[in-house]
Amino acid sequence: MTYEHLIVERLDKIAVVRFNRPDRLNALSIDLMREIELITEEFREDIETRVVIFTGQGRHFSAGADMRDTKRAAAADTSLLNKQRQFHLGPRMIQKLYDMNQITIAAINGGALGGGACIVSALDFRIGDEDCFCAYPEGALGIPLSWVSLPLCVHLVGPARAKRFVILAQREKAQTLLEWGFLDELVPANRLMDRALEMAAQYAAMPPVAAQMIKRSVNAVASALDRAVMHMDSDQVLLTSLTEDYQEGVKAFFEKRTPEFKGR
Ligand code: COA
Repeated sequence: MTYEHLIVERLDKIAVVRFNRPDRLNALSIDLMREIELITEEFREDIETRVVIFTGQGRHFSAGADMRDTKRAAAADTSLLNKQRQFHLGPRMIQKLYDMNQITIAAINGGALGGGACIVSALDFRIGDEDCFCAYPEGALGIPLSWVSLPLCVHLVGPARAKRFVILAQREKAQTLLEWGFLDELVPANRLMDRALEMAAQYAAMPPVAAQMIKRSVNAVASALDRAVMHMDSDQVLLTSLTEDYQEGVKAFFEKRTPEFKGR
């Protein structure tokens, strides 16, 4: 399978997947998201690969949903039913990453924002470079955190920190993310991939049947209520994306100014 927006490298039992839209800060266009979904399906049939590392090509892991994506903009002008279908792509992609059989590692270079933070939270482990940062800017755009990712954040950092992280929508630095348990490890930028590969080799050496059973069971325990709570989260985003506050949030981001929200 060939991908336009992913670079896939296969080593012995380990695969490295790089988001490859560096000129767009690896922002998640519809096309990139479909490819991420597709590669999880490829790994579903793959019994040779034991560990998959995800990272970003260029300065950042991912700037989150691509707010300049023409396909996303086109979907905004269609019927409510079609918009609803389009909005299912994000949660479906995150769920597929979460459900991967392989052990998964995020090697976080630079920023992982919005959907980028959702991706890292859906993986098993997170190694950051010392300058990395994460944020959920959704709150500052007037939409809730969706993509089935709010519970993933709560599981990692606990309820009070999750409220601060998600409502205030501020960038949190690497050291804070490590203290909160959002990151498992921090390393100098020039060690990021070496350390991710070392960790991957450790998991790849374990008996895969048991390792994958344990992963699935831990995820099942941790997320037992998640789907029940989040089953309509894309509808919530669809609803809030129709508000004036959302339009204002996005406009203010591109105009590099503070938004003025009115609850409308
Ligand atoms: N979608 C579309 N364009 C984006 C984008 C996104 N998610 N994130 C950044 N860009 C654009 C910026 O508007 C800017 O365009 P410009 O050069 O025409 O002004 C360009 O990418 C570079 O961004 P800049 O902020 O200058 O780069 P940076 O390295 O200083 O910061 C980020 C990078 C990712 C930390 C920062 O751009 C950011 O916070 N982006 C917002 C992410 C966001 O809100 N995502 C969630 C969407 S739900």
